[in-house]
Parts: sequence; C-alpha cells; structure tokens
Amino acid sequence: MGKKVLTIVLIGCLMVGLCACGKKSTNQGKSSIKIGVTLYDQYDAFLGQMMDFFEAYAEKVEKDTGVTVTVEIYNAAASQSTQNDQVEEMIEKNFDVICVNLVDRTDPSSIIDAAEKANVPVVFFNRELVEEDLQRWDELYYVGATALESGIMEGELAADYCNHHPEVDKNRDGVIQYVVLEGEAGHQDAIVRTEYSVSTIQDAGITLEKVDNAIANWNRDQAKTQTLQLLEQKKNIELYICNNDAMALGVIDAYESLEYDKKNFPAIFGIDGIDEGLSAVKEESMVATVYNDKEGQAEAMLELAYRLATNESVSDMDLLDGKYIRLPYAKVDSENVDSYLTTE
Ligand code: GAL
Repeated sequence: MGKKVLTIVLIGCLMVGLCACGKKSTNQGKSSIKIGVTLYDQYDAFLGQMMDFFEAYAEKVEKDTGVTVTVEIYNAAASQSTQNDQVEEMIEKNFDVICVNLVDRTDPSSIIDAAEKANVPVVFFNRELVEEDLQRWDELYYVGATALESGIMEGELAADYCNHHPEVDKNRDGVIQYVVLEGEAGHQDAIVRTEYSVSTIQDAGITLEKVDNAIANWNRDQAKTQTLQLLEQKKNIELYICNNDAMALGVIDAYESLEYDKKNFPAIFGIDGIDEGLSAVKEESMVATVYNDKEGQAEAMLELAYRLATNESVSDMDLLDGKYIRLPYAKVDSENVDSYLTTE
C-alpha cells in the first residue's frame, strides 16, 4: 500500500474513533491528557523523524477533539536504569499513558511493575519485548512492524537489482562479494533483517560471498568509520546490505570522502525511508530502501495512547491478540521514490 493511501486509511480510522456518530469525542469528559514518551536514544534518526510526526499528530488531534494533548519526550540515553527512573517520574507527574521505546528489550520488568501498580497503561514501540512480558498485564500494548518483512523486501530489491544489472559484479567472477552493516547486537530488527535479506538474495539464485559484517548500531558515523576500515584492506566489495538507512548513508559518506564517483559506487541498500535515505535513492547513490512506516506507526501510537488516556474502548482498533499494532513495510526504489518524497 502506498504511503498516502495508508495515511488516509489511518486518519480515517482515527476520525471514526474520535468523532463517532458526529460527536467530537467519547472521552468521558477529560479536557486534557498527558502522554509521556521515553526513547532509547533521542539521536536515533528514524525515531527522531517518527517523533516529529507523533507531535504533529498530537496537535491535530487536539484541534479535532478540543482535548489538550501534552506530549513530553524523554531521552533514556542508552541506559535502562535511566529509563526506569523516567517512567517512575512520569507516574509521579500523573501522566495518563506512557509510551516506551525500551533501551533493553529483554528488561521491561521494572517498568511493567511500576505501571501496573499505578494503573497507567504502557504502549511499547519499535523495540519489541518478548510476548510473555507483554502478556503480564492487560494494559500493555506494542506498536511496530514485522522485522521479517523488511529483511525479505530488502533481499528482493537487491536480488532484482543484481539480476538486472550484471555490472554489480565488478570483478566478473560470477559471485557477488557483500558486506552486511548491522544495527545493535540483540535488536530483533538487526537479527532478523540480516538473516532474511541475505537468504532471500541467495534463494533468488545469486551466489554471494561474505566479505565481512560489522555492527554500526544504526548509526551513520559508525557506519562510515567501519566502511573506511574495510576499504583500507583493499577488499573487493560489490554490495552493501544495511540494516537501516542511516548506516547506508554512512557507507555513502565513506565512498564520497574517498572521492569515488557515484557511478562507481557498489550497490547500497537500506531500510527505513528516512528523509535523507529517500533523497539518496532519488539521487541514485543508494539503490533502494524499504519504507518503515514512521507516519503510520506514529498515528497508530497516538490514537492508541489517546484512547487509553481518555478511557475509550480500543476494541475496534483491530489489535492483534488485543495488544499488537503492526504496520506494513513497502519497497522504495527510483521508480516510486517520488511518491514518498512528495508527501514529506
Ligand atoms: C529500527 C529502525 C532503525 C532504528 C531502530 C531503533 O526499526 O529501522 O533505524 O531506529 O529501529 O530501535
């Protein structure tokens, strides 16, 4: 589904939720709500852009419903204990709902215990906790995407490109020498994207040879440094499969700093469709990306948070297992990138 269509569908759902039967809201009389958000790292490029959209959407809902919606965003700065303290603080400050982008997705216990004790619903997002943890209390939810889908799509884009562009195989040995740039160790998206992107390319009949893999923690500068180190070893690299756009942009930065001409770049693929990633696809320095629907996820999270904060039912929101909202990914290449850029 195109981004525009998806956005319209989500806005439609929200309007049904917020304005059912012509009423402005069925929010049981609250005139203001407070939504707290804690991010694992406020400098993460994808999450930064997702939050811009979340705040813009909160303003829209405020206008549409007349309910004052205050959003406060905290930076956990990669510390789970800082994040636990932030949640405690939000509970003390009477936030109506808390959205948590876990630092350590295996360690949500303190947050769940504190929220349950104070009866404050929690919407986890983007960094998925295990199902048993989400089942620990009724008022726990998750908003995100299905990592597997993005890995398969990235693999399909890369396989398709290699099949139609024999020049990717620069040394003409019939094998594509590749590097995977991985996000954080232990992150579900990094693990699954790495595995499925590579296996999808192989399943399409392309012979791959792994030159190396490197962990660059979703980060552009780290990816640039890692790429420069690889290039110092003078290895032949024909394809970069990156777990996200920020790292793909770091690869491009490395080649640009060595004054490679764009037409001699290896084939570089990313995931996310952040603004700079879409521009790189448009400029053809990145071959393609997979759109991680930041707008859709922000809208869905805001809708869910709004309803929880105002004690409205979430039963018509089509939550999987009553708890999960997962937005689909989409492939973006030079053919369709304009439709993503124009709605930025
Ligand atoms: C992924 C996203 C990455 C990074 C990560 C943080 O879904 O693709 O760019 O934002 O989440 O958890």
